[in-house]
Amino acid sequence: MIAIAVLAAGRGTRMKSDLPKVLHELGGRSLVERVLDSCLEIQPSRRIVIVGYRGELVEKSLACDRQIDTGETSFPPLEFVNQAEQLGTGHAIQQLLPYLVGFTGDLLVLNGDVPLLRPTTIKHLMQVHKENQNAATLLTANLPNPQGYGRVFADSQNVVKQIVEDRDCTAAQKQNHRINAGVYCFNWPKLAEILPHLRADNDQKEYYLTDTVNHLNPVMAVDVEDYHEILGINDRKHLANAYNILQRRVKDEWMTKGVTLIDPESITIDDTVELAIDVIVEPQTHIRGKTAIGTGSRIGPGSLIENSQIGENVTVLYSVITDSVVANGAKIGPYAHLRVHTEVGANCRIGNFVELKKAKLGDRTNAAHLSYLGDATLGEKVNIGAGTITANYDGVNKHQTVIGDRTKTGSNSVLVAPVTLGDDVTVAAGSVVTEDVPNDSLVIARSKQVVKSGWKLKGKDEA
Ligand code: UD1
Ligand code: CA
Repeated sequence: MIAIAVLAAGRGTRMKSDLPKVLHELGGRSLVERVLDSCLEIQPSRRIVIVGYRGELVEKSLACDRQIDTGETSFPPLEFVNQAEQLGTGHAIQQLLPYLVGFTGDLLVLNGDVPLLRPTTIKHLMQVHKENQNAATLLTANLPNPQGYGRVFADSQNVVKQIVEDRDCTAAQKQNHRINAGVYCFNWPKLAEILPHLRADNDQKEYYLTDTVNHLNPVMAVDVEDYHEILGINDRKHLANAYNILQRRVKDEWMTKGVTLIDPESITIDDTVELAIDVIVEPQTHIRGKTAIGTGSRIGPGSLIENSQIGENVTVLYSVITDSVVANGAKIGPYAHLRVHTEVGANCRIGNFVELKKAKLGDRTNAAHLSYLGDATLGEKVNIGAGTITANYDGVNKHQTVIGDRTKTGSNSVLVAPVTLGDDVTVAAGSVVTEDVPNDSLVIARSKQVVKSGWKLKGKDEA
């Protein structure tokens, strides 16, 4: 049996922020959420988050975000334990004593500010712990620059003797570059026995979880293969660095799987994105959230796609698409904006300076220039003329526009919602359509042109 505890009570003073450190975002997910995700390959029976500084915020943020995450249903719900005063990592784990009375399994402890761990690394740590029947097993790494981290002193068999915090190290001890990642697996009954006896006799006057290794036997260190995984976030520079590491990891993976990235340095892709083979991503393009892009699609340059489903063989050029669905073969842009549950059918063309909001377009419908279509449902093979606008807002409420199959709107027409245009309707250029139009008809809704022949402006010269 395994229980997980995530340390998330600290403020993170070095972030210089009102937001608790663990709620800072890294590529669309908070640090603490990422830490929880790194445990997705083990089957815990309990999941505890220790909160303190603005704990209610951490709790709320995790509660909403995790509910949306459907992959989590097989995991036990998160429990929150309050550490009212933050007196150190050992003090944080002491708070678990009343909650884990009678628990005889292992406790996996993770710092809430170590967001790049791979699930396989955690799994490996747990395996080593089990195979060797250790009292504690901890993740370590050899860092080129170990400044700020606790140093781990172990023998050639990886049996740990001591962990000394950076600020408590002697000059000689600082020469040891093997650091404590802040990820541990403890035999809980053994840990529970010594937790009450921790002392705060160090530079920070805090109760250190790391001091428990002096009283446990055996404690073993497991090195990570790639030290980037265990980098802790203490300030905003660390956060930016972690983002770069994450991006490199994500982009390498997609390129290995058959996606072309043109000028990868200028592209960002969240690790929640799904790309099919032979997708081409052009420079200055950002793909975020729960987005999926089908095979053969070409995205960019200069585009932002967020929480959207893009079909196969779609092209998107200098455009922004959020919370929308685009079917196969559609051509979007340049300079189009699709947002809020827009659905574009197959082989549509959405061109220059066209904005779609809550718009549903049938297959082969085009809006090629200068349009706003909001709260609208369009059939198939509709042609929206340049400058057509749905006037969907009366100043108080939004209204629907419905346009039937094969209907054509002339340039600069305004469709004042609520209004329905049938199939095969033609709207004359410059019309302001305020009433429904039946199938197979022409609507002209503008004042008639008046020409007065022989008319001249009466000027001064004639006076
Ligand atoms: C800690 C380790 C250090 C390790 C490093 C790895 C200790 C004593 N030191 O140092 O050996 O190399 O992490 O990143 O454990 N927290 C609480 N309650 C507290 C104090 C902290 O929940 O009272 C949480 C923080 O919110 C944070 C985590 O514990 O998520 C680590 O705390 P932090 O102060 O960043 O520890 P480090 O000094 O980095
Ligand atoms: Ca830290």
